[in-house]
Amino acid sequence: IYQTKNTDKMTILTKLQIDMIRSKISGLGFFVPENVVSNDDLSKLMDTSNDWISERTGIKNRRWVGDKKLTTSLMGTYAAEKAIADAGIDKNDIDFIIFSTLSPDYYFPGSGVLLQRNLGIKEIGALDVRNQCSGFIYGLSIADQYIKSGMYKNILLVGSEIHSGGLDKSTKGRSVSVIFGDGAGAAIISSTKSENGILSTHLHSEGKYAEELAVIKPATTHWIDKIKSDQNDESFWPYMNGNFVFKNAVVRFEQVIKEGLEHSNLNLEDISLLIPHQANLRISQFIQKKLKLSDSQVFNNIMKYGNTTAASIPIALTEAYQSNLKKKNDIVVLAAFGSGFTWGSAVIKW
Ligand code: ACO
Repeated sequence: IYQTKNTDKMTILTKLQIDMIRSKISGLGFFVPENVVSNDDLSKLMDTSNDWISERTGIKNRRWVGDKKLTTSLMGTYAAEKAIADAGIDKNDIDFIIFSTLSPDYYFPGSGVLLQRNLGIKEIGALDVRNQCSGFIYGLSIADQYIKSGMYKNILLVGSEIHSGGLDKSTKGRSVSVIFGDGAGAAIISSTKSENGILSTHLHSEGKYAEELAVIKPATTHWIDKIKSDQNDESFWPYMNGNFVFKNAVVRFEQVIKEGLEHSNLNLEDISLLIPHQANLRISQFIQKKLKLSDSQVFNNIMKYGNTTAASIPIALTEAYQSNLKKKNDIVVLAAFGSGFTWGSAVIKW
């Protein structure tokens, strides 16, 4: 636009206005089921112990829906209602819905439309994101682009998961099932003319490791009749190559956090609060040590909720925000790594 010789004044104005638009998180909320499941509770279901789980993962408790009436979209709705109230907007001010989950209510349609129905709002677009632990960061990046382009003013971003129904709770499944919890978190992403807001987002994937952390069936490669015909095939349970995931996670977390900081000429010392996806406390501690961050610079709540995948960052962000851990102009860094493999970061000037 600037290189055009016969420049139209209106076009330049529009361009300048778009340049000034940034997105910010204007509201936050989360919902977790009431039913607390402790490590001792799990040791009654499988051969495990509080010591093993605490030592390897940092997790003490997780929430599992005991109440059959709770669904992924319903928990997302409860979290969304809190975020909408926190943002101080009317639900009909929302222009677009993004729903991140690996545990949708249905195979299809996606959970975004169910959220739209549950909220009883106008017929806005609803998009589902399938990026597992990185789902919230991917959703945030999409919201950021829509807002910066001027297309939307308020976007509702939800991460919600019900893992408990899909876990092998026998001793065979213990290395996976003790890690995961149910919950939902939501954020309202709004446009702002202020220089505070989302500075940048960074997304990556490496599909060659897709099967290292995956639920393979049922799917179009393995239809129901195939699964039924082989009674010994149990690959409808989540599979995780734990050590391999751990090793990749710590490398990618570090890279993508540094990438985000470098983009805005920031240093590690500039981080006021790092909120990593709550995968495993040992992963967070490893990153903290590697980046030489102090305890007050890193937020963890996996001890209470386990790994809630796409919901973990919005739940942690809400808790940090409600505990007044963030103040104006703080640099808040969000980072995630998970199945895909996918990973990403977001750098926010609060
Ligand atoms: N209770 C008791 N013993 C167990 C349990 C359990 N719940 N699970 C496994 N074990 C046993 C194993 O059978 C094994 O026994 P053996 O030595 O007799 O064979 C032993 O404990 C060690 O098993 P490992 O799998 O080698 O244990 P490891 O130290 O690797 O810890 C863990 C497993 C916690 C899963 C670890 O690999 C890890 O944290 N990986 C990262 C995975 C992660 O964080 N995933 C989430 C991120 S991705 C996402 O969020 C979707």
